[in-house]
Amino acid sequence: MIPDFPGSYPTQRLRRGRRTAFLRTLARETCLAPADLIYPIFVRESKRAGMEVAAMPGITYRTLPELPVLGAELIELGLPALALFPVIDQRRKSNSAREAWNPRGLLPRAVRLLKRECPRLGVITDVALDPYTRHGQDGLLDSRGEVANDPSVQALVKQALCQAEAGADVLAPSDMMDGRIGAIRTALEERGLHQVLILSYAAKYASALYAPFRAALGSASTLGKADKKSYQIDPANSTEALRETALDLREGADWVMVKPGLGYLDIVHRIKERFGVPTLVYNVSGEYVMLKAAAARGWLEERPVVLELLTACKRAGADAILSYHALDAARWLRETA
Ligand code: PBG
Repeated sequence: MIPDFPGSYPTQRLRRGRRTAFLRTLARETCLAPADLIYPIFVRESKRAGMEVAAMPGITYRTLPELPVLGAELIELGLPALALFPVIDQRRKSNSAREAWNPRGLLPRAVRLLKRECPRLGVITDVALDPYTRHGQDGLLDSRGEVANDPSVQALVKQALCQAEAGADVLAPSDMMDGRIGAIRTALEERGLHQVLILSYAAKYASALYAPFRAALGSASTLGKADKKSYQIDPANSTEALRETALDLREGADWVMVKPGLGYLDIVHRIKERFGVPTLVYNVSGEYVMLKAAAARGWLEERPVVLELLTACKRAGADAILSYHALDAARWLRETA
């Protein structure tokens, strides 16, 4: 709310408060800290550590043995949590996505290892079938080749339970099927897993900015020319995102997420104002590579731009931000502090 002040210039001179660093620091309304950031990582079954993700400069695939070291580094930098995205071997992909609930699969093993070695670090897992399906869709296909909602929800429930049983702290369904939050919540309750949070990607848009992520996961080639517009929200819509959020909260979501980030901060603001629940934002792979490309060409200076844009996410109302820049940003914030 903007208070009503009597008077104007020269009684009011806003530049007075901007003149020196200490004044700006004291009056700053938004403060970005490592504690606001979540680091998304790609885990891969491989003996070779340090393999670069071709589509995302500065990002490497992580192998299982690397995870405890990475976890310790995140804790040391003050990052509260990471988000795990498994890269599944082509031979383990199927039309039924059954590898998604294999308790000995890559993801549950990564979760168990992290919770054993770095118990203080929060582990967030992605609930969606795209890493596991041959067609790269987040759900299962019916005989006409359409993404079938209710059978997909049944599969997602199995996947969610497998992740929760492995020890995941927060389940993040990113699949956008109708009714999956309620179904997952009921299944968790039935198994006494009431402590597990659901972070719903309530407002996930059908964005072209996911391309580097899909390339990293190998789902760009499986998806081919298909798209996800039959379940992700049309980028032209805003009120629809509020409706999605209301439904997910009613079904039992604890926190909600908006994705992508920068082009969608109006949505973050509306959701936060309207519902007042923890609202996270996903600064996605396409946003990351745009900055990397501009920085590599010397067109932008990476560090101040990244910190400015992450601050903008918070200013819009985000309580936390998933960002591939999280590790660098945490280091930069520590240097400035
Ligand atoms: C899929 C999923 C996607 C991302 C996270 N989970 C891609 C998609 O919906 O196709 C994108 C993240 C990013 O671009 O960084 N369930």
